[in-house]
Amino acid sequence: MKPVSAKQSTMHSTKQTRLQTATPATTKVDAQAIRQATTLAATLNDYARLAEARLPAEVWHYLQEGAGEGRTQRENEAAFNTMKLVPRPLADVRGGHTRIELFGRTHVHPLMLAPMAYQRLFDTHGESGSAMAAQAQQAVMLVSSLASQPLAQIAACGADLWFQLYWQAGRDATLRLLRKAELAGAQAIVFTVDAPVKQASLQLPAGITAANLEDAPELPAIAAGQSAVFDQWMMLAPGWDDLAWLRAQTTLPLLVKGLLNVDDARRALALGCDGLIVSNHGGRVIDGTTTALQALIAMREQLGEQVTLLFDSGVRSGADAYKAIACGAQAVLIGRPYIWALAAAGPMGVAHLIRRLRDELEMTMALMGQSTIAGIRATGMA
Ligand SMILES: Cc1cc2nc3c(=O)[nH]c(=O)nc-3n(C[C@H](O)[C@H](O)[C@H](O)COP(=O)(O)O)c2cc1C
Repeated sequence: MKPVSAKQSTMHSTKQTRLQTATPATTKVDAQAIRQATTLAATLNDYARLAEARLPAEVWHYLQEGAGEGRTQRENEAAFNTMKLVPRPLADVRGGHTRIELFGRTHVHPLMLAPMAYQRLFDTHGESGSAMAAQAQQAVMLVSSLASQPLAQIAACGADLWFQLYWQAGRDATLRLLRKAELAGAQAIVFTVDAPVKQASLQLPAGITAANLEDAPELPAIAAGQSAVFDQWMMLAPGWDDLAWLRAQTTLPLLVKGLLNVDDARRALALGCDGLIVSNHGGRVIDGTTTALQALIAMREQLGEQVTLLFDSGVRSGADAYKAIACGAQAVLIGRPYIWALAAAGPMGVAHLIRRLRDELEMTMALMGQSTIAGIRATGMA
C-alpha cells in the first residue's frame, strides 16, 4: 500500500493498475471553445460535459474521482437534491443584494473559488486563469498549497486571495510557506486538516509541480511490520498543538477546513481560530463520511449564530448555494464546477460560471422572497 500526503507533489495509487501519468492541458482554448461554452452551457453540468471532451482521460478522472466507490461524493450532491425549496412569491424584494461581510471586508456576493490543486493540468492559464476570472467577477479565490504557479504570479491578477495551507511536515517549512502567502497579499489563511494521507491516481506530468513548495521531505524509514500509514505518513501530519502554534504565527484570519465533528470545531475555535470551512473535501478522502450539508446543519445548530462557517462539497447551482446559506453558511465555495469551466473555456469560462451562479442565486432569492443573504440565514429553509 502506498498512500500519499498533501505535501507530496506526485501521487501514487494503492490501485496500481490505475496509476497513470497525466498529460497536461496543452490545447489553448480558442474563441470557438469560449463561444461554445458561454452560449451553450445552460447548467454547470454542461460545463462538465465540455470539460470531459477537452481533457485527457486521466486528468478528467483525477478531477472527478471520489474516494472508494464515490458514495460520499454522490451523497453530497444528493443531499442538496432531497432538500426542497418552497417558493414565496409576491414578496417585496426591491433593492435586494447578495453582499456579505467577512473579517471586516465587504464582498458583493458569497461565492468563492475553492482551493483546487495543480490547475495547469486543466488549462494552460492555470491558477492565474481562475484568479483573472475571480477578479473580474469580484469573487474571493482560495489558492491551494499545491498551486502549479508561483503565488506572486497568481496575486498579480488582482483578485482577493485567501491562501489554503497544507502542513509541510514540520513547523519551519510550514512557517516559510505561510510567510510566502502573507507576502503575496493573502487576506486569510485556510488550514486544511482533512487529508494528511489520501490515495490518488495521478502521476503528475513533467513540468507541473507544486510551484510554491520546497522539495518533499524524506519519509521516516519503517521497519518490517511497521505501518506506512501510522509510522510513516502520519508522522508528518499536524496535531492540535501544531494548530495552536499556527494560530500564534499569523495575525490574518485563520480558518480550518475539513472538520466535521462539532467537538473538534469547538476545540479549534477555543484555540483562537476565526472560522471553519465545513467540507468533506468533495468526498475525496474517506468514502462514507457524513455529507457536508448534514455536517453544516449540525455545526450551525450546535455552535450558534456567531461562529463563522463557510461551506463546500456538492454545490452545483445557485439554488444549492441558497440552500447552503439557509442551512447556516455565510459563504459558499465552488469546487469541481469551476475547474470544468476552466478546462472548457479558460478564464472566460470561469468568469461566466461565477456570474451564472450569482444570477441563479439572485433569482432563487427573488423567488423565495428573500432580498438579502442575512434574510436567508434568518429564515432558513422555512
Ligand atoms: C481536483 C481537486 C483538487 C483539490 N485540491 C485541493 C487542495 O489542494 N486543497 C484543499 O484544501 N482542497 C482541495 N480540494 C477540495 C476542494 O477544495 C473542495 O473541498 C471540494 O472540491 C468540494 O467538493 P465539490 O468539488 O464536489 O463541490 C480539491 C478537490 C478536487 C476535486
